[in-house]
Amino acid sequence: MERTLSIIKPDAVAKGVIGKILDRFESNGLRIAATKKIQLSREDAEKFYAVHADRPFFNDLVDFMISGPVVVTVLEGENAMAKNRELMGATNPKEAAPGTIRADFAENIDANAVHGSDSLENAAIEIAFFFAEREIA
Ligand code: CMP
Repeated sequence: MERTLSIIKPDAVAKGVIGKILDRFESNGLRIAATKKIQLSREDAEKFYAVHADRPFFNDLVDFMISGPVVVTVLEGENAMAKNRELMGATNPKEAAPGTIRADFAENIDANAVHGSDSLENAAIEIAFFFAEREIA
């Protein structure tokens, strides 16, 4: 049993597809162990994406992530990390396989609907960034 972190980004929240995206997880064997809708501060977004601080897209990424509320979710299940990434599709929606979340709901590589942890080590760090252990059931 694994846990991973999902973020439904401001573009998908604004489009009103929170329920549709959460349904993709539940319909594919991932359990929602915790979820909440929050508005990130600039400091939150900079800290969360600190690994990308030197990348040319960093400032645009931070601006985008604080442009509206996001939904952060802890997903739990067998192979949850890889399963979530499979359901999300490629980072660039133009390259995302048909039927994936990004192919169906994302506009471009910046407004790409969802984030998902890319390793179990990062999943643990990202989950702890947003949730206390007692909030995860
Ligand atoms: P995410 O999985 O949230 O991780 C970092 C984000 O940076 C990524 O999704 C994209 O939305 C965004 N991004 C913008 N440009 C790029 C790029 N060239 N390569 C990777 N990520 C990018």
